[in-house]
Amino acid sequence: MRVGILGSGLMGGKLGTIFARAGYEVIFSYARSEQKLKKLARDAKGKAMPGTPREAAQEADALLLAVHWSRMDDVLSQAGDLSGKVIVSCSLPMNARNTELVIAHTSSGAEALAKRVPKARFVSAFNTVPSEVLLGVFTSRRKATRPSLVYCGYDSGSKEIAAELIRDVGFDPVDAGPLRIVRYTEPLALLVTQLA
Ligand SMILES: NC(=O)c1ccc[n+]([C@@H]2O[C@H](COP(=O)([O-])OP(=O)(O)OC[C@H]3O[C@@H](n4cnc5c(N)ncnc54)[C@H](OP(=O)(O)O)[C@@H]3O)[C@@H](O)[C@H]2O)c1
Repeated sequence: MRVGILGSGLMGGKLGTIFARAGYEVIFSYARSEQKLKKLARDAKGKAMPGTPREAAQEADALLLAVHWSRMDDVLSQAGDLSGKVIVSCSLPMNARNTELVIAHTSSGAEALAKRVPKARFVSAFNTVPSEVLLGVFTSRRKATRPSLVYCGYDSGSKEIAAELIRDVGFDPVDAGPLRIVRYTEPLALLVTQLA
């Protein structure tokens, strides 16, 4: 599978590196410097390359959306037409100071994104885990007991792709139901981020 990374920071950089080491073709996009994207691709030591968000989205079997909420409009407009694309989002709808969710309780960031790009196939995953643990989970993935990771989404095809990605990072994927369940998991994810 080819995975496009939209947002190559703490989460996108680490998950993209792991996806490349797990055998996926990866395009790192959206950072403030092209040098950083090149270095991430080089250091990933797999089939990884730097690109623009549009290049990351073209031909991608799955996209990882990993930007701050304030960058969402910019990255989505740079990515272009996302109709039919599987978008696995770990982005939380945080305010500028990263202290509170700007969407919560009666909706979630994931549901807002699904409404904003209605023709894309959204899955929410990886947001309940701090970036710091990802490489350790990948390194110890062959152990008998794996940590669980919840994911939510509407359509079964996109959820299968997300589950495969989650498994290849080293987690045991747990289907928590449709996207509206994310309004309960995002506050939990905020708590995890604050504890981390
Ligand atoms: N970090 C965590 O442990 C964690 C856990 C759960 C969920 N999340 C969620 O995951 C999402 C991403 O978090 P993160 O910690 O990975 O964020 P981050 O490290 O800040 O990464 C965001 C990416 O966006 C890029 N970016 C920011 N402004 C830009 C601009 N003006 N032009 C181009 N690129 C720009 C950054 O570029 P640079 O690389 O140049 O800075 C970076 O690559 C957030 O929604 C967060 O809530 C994070």
